[in-house]
Amino acid sequence: MVDRAPFLSVTGVGRTFGAGDAQVIALADVDVEIATGEFTVILGPSGSGKSTLLNLLGGMDRPSTGSIRVDGEPIETLSDRDLTGYRRERVGFVFQFYNLIPNLTAVENVALAASLVMPRREAADTATGLLERVGLGHRLDQFPRHLSGGEMQRVAIARALAKRPALLLCDEPSGALDTVTGTQVLAQLQETARSTETAVVVVTHEHTLAEAADRLISLRDGRVVENRLNETPETIGAEEAAS
Ligand SMILES: Nc1ncnc2c1ncn2[C@@H]1O[C@H](COP(=O)(O)OP(=O)(O)OP(=O)(O)O)[C@@H](O)[C@H]1O
Ligand SMILES: [Mg+2]
Repeated sequence: MVDRAPFLSVTGVGRTFGAGDAQVIALADVDVEIATGEFTVILGPSGSGKSTLLNLLGGMDRPSTGSIRVDGEPIETLSDRDLTGYRRERVGFVFQFYNLIPNLTAVENVALAASLVMPRREAADTATGLLERVGLGHRLDQFPRHLSGGEMQRVAIARALAKRPALLLCDEPSGALDTVTGTQVLAQLQETARSTETAVVVVTHEHTLAEAADRLISLRDGRVVENRLNETPETIGAEEAAS
């Protein structure tokens, strides 16, 4: 195991929605630390608070209690403007549905995201490089409607990586894919965590991923019921690649 610097620390975080009889405690007393370059898997039944936690980590929502520090700096006390800056500059998102822009090609979808943080010419080259890295060098000029689900998700990953985020948050990224394609997408995410400084956090219902995680967090009823480091994580898709 590599020695990883602490990057994200969540202390005593709770998130409550609504009030009175309608109150929902989505998260309570959550303590979690995530390191740079770590591949973290969050497991838990429906309604256990997985997406709520991801939204808090990504600055899309604010905790009701507790603190979330990124590189030692609390983000819950940031102004709306600074929180937007955090989200835009440091966090990449991948969702179950790819949300690609239909009238832009694969490379244009990625270049658009890259152009938010770099000059246009450089953005085009970066987009091409990222798509090659996710195995789509031969699909650069295809429109989303001509891509398979797995290919669209890999474009979405390339797009999320375009700004070189410190944190890549993925909410059920393989949820709409068949097993084989889903495995390829998850393998890509694990590879990203291994080959870059990006901390990758994946929310999934896929229990087999537990053994592939550097860190496994299990939630139940808004609480962390398991938080463990894997000394020797499995490489996702290694079996298929060997056979
Ligand atoms: N904006 C909201 N307003 C009210 N309740 C909410 C809101 N967001 C989440 N909740 C509630 O908080 C709880 C946790 O929801 P969350 O979406 O985090 O679960 P999840 O683990 O992601 O579930 P799933 O696996 O179904 O996606 C649920 O009871 C949900 O109904
Ligand atoms: Mg969810």
